[in-house]
Amino acid sequence: MLQKRIKVGLLGLGTVGSGVYRILTEGNTTLGEKAGVDLELKGILVRDPKRQRLVDVDASLLTTDPGTILGDEDIDIVVEVMGGEEPARSYIEEALRAGKQVVTANKEVMAKHGAELLQLARERGADLFFEASVAGGIPILRTLQESLAGEEVEAVYGIVNGTTNYILTAMDSKGLDFAEVLAEAQALGYAEADPTADIAGHDATRKLAILASLAFNIQVPLDQVHCAGIEEITAADIEAARELGYVIKLLAIARRDGERVEARVHPAFLPQGHPLAGVDGVYNAVLVEGRAVGTLMFYGAGAGQMPTGSAVVGDLIAAARNLRAGARGNNATGFAREGKIIPMEEVETRYYLRLRVAPEPGVLGTVTGCCGAEGVELASLDVKNWGKDSADLHIRTQRAKEKAFRRLLAALGREPQIYAVESAIPIEGEG
Ligand SMILES: NC(=O)c1ccc[n+]([C@@H]2O[C@H](COP(=O)([O-])OP(=O)(O)OC[C@H]3O[C@@H](n4cnc5c(N)ncnc54)[C@H](OP(=O)(O)O)[C@@H]3O)[C@@H](O)[C@H]2O)c1
Repeated sequence: MLQKRIKVGLLGLGTVGSGVYRILTEGNTTLGEKAGVDLELKGILVRDPKRQRLVDVDASLLTTDPGTILGDEDIDIVVEVMGGEEPARSYIEEALRAGKQVVTANKEVMAKHGAELLQLARERGADLFFEASVAGGIPILRTLQESLAGEEVEAVYGIVNGTTNYILTAMDSKGLDFAEVLAEAQALGYAEADPTADIAGHDATRKLAILASLAFNIQVPLDQVHCAGIEEITAADIEAARELGYVIKLLAIARRDGERVEARVHPAFLPQGHPLAGVDGVYNAVLVEGRAVGTLMFYGAGAGQMPTGSAVVGDLIAAARNLRAGARGNNATGFAREGKIIPMEEVETRYYLRLRVAPEPGVLGTVTGCCGAEGVELASLDVKNWGKDSADLHIRTQRAKEKAFRRLLAALGREPQIYAVESAIPIEGEG
């Protein structure tokens, strides 16, 4: 007999949980229609039931005992929106072992344990959906798994961290330095009190690992994703980028090269006309290059209560539909093969370099000599602020392997005429 009513357990009622609750309860009459069943919220796990909530919830639904939800045979779908690695991972595992459908927004758990959890889901004939774990409200993960299932994906890349994008956008528009804008972002609630995971690139690295795992059907070990944050970007870098026709963005890039994949997160110069250059503030965007479909761009809110809640509820409906149709275990794709990740030293990029040098005859020869010796060809060299004590050189290079750039930076560092390498930032989006 077809199930008419599906019971749901929610783990967490913070920012995202409250969005899910609102979408489920605030009069969206078509949800049941779309799911083909009535969805009933049976219990909500929280840490502190006395805490003031963002939504008005019937207190009898709240529990601090995970067993009330995970051990309840009546609950068909568990929605994990607690965050953190543990106990969230264990609760997801327990729910899947009990044959429940699971929806999660947890990038940390999926980036680190996605392969084993999806394997468990397959074994148990259950579904594990995780759309909200990357780029909040943007429907990119199930698009890769379903609509683009026929594609040979060549690359997936974009802006997947709203906090760093807000900071870089504000540095650009207000001409302020990193520390000032970070303090402002914290005051506005766009950056956490401890912003390390965002500004050091770790959050984007997790999202990139998930994107690449679905785009290329591989497992991407997090420690093999190259990661550099935006802490060292200065107002002078932003100014130099603007003068040369670029903007600076924190990019997450995964690109296939035969059997191997490059996976890297770092700030980059992007031409002002590039589709990602206009993605400002807390917005996110992901580009997918497919062999047959060409280039697609997905843009929208990368976080927040309602956009993220929307992605979670979309997954919840997909999980309910599969249950109703007796087609559980349908979605567990991606993360299949062991990924061969190209070491960063082997990756080819172009670079922008800014050097502070001695204003002496021969200094340009020293710089071009170092570049030639390390096999890095110049695309442009501009001399600025030639003064009594120092001069600035702005250099754009042609494409070369990262290991050649590292050797070049070391060589420049040994030259007495080169006072400082003030900036070394990859240039993307120019072929
Ligand atoms: N915030 C966003 O915009 C966003 C966007 C995309 C993805 N995500 C992901 O969504 C997840 C949730 O994020 P959030 O911002 O909603 O977090 P949050 O506001 O901190 O909420 C976490 C909720 O989980 C509960 N909780 C946490 N640990 C618990 C434990 N050990 N036992 C019982 N309850 C526990 C908390 O209970 P109390 O309320 O009682 O403390 C709280 O209700 C994370 O994985 C995050 O990465 C968030």
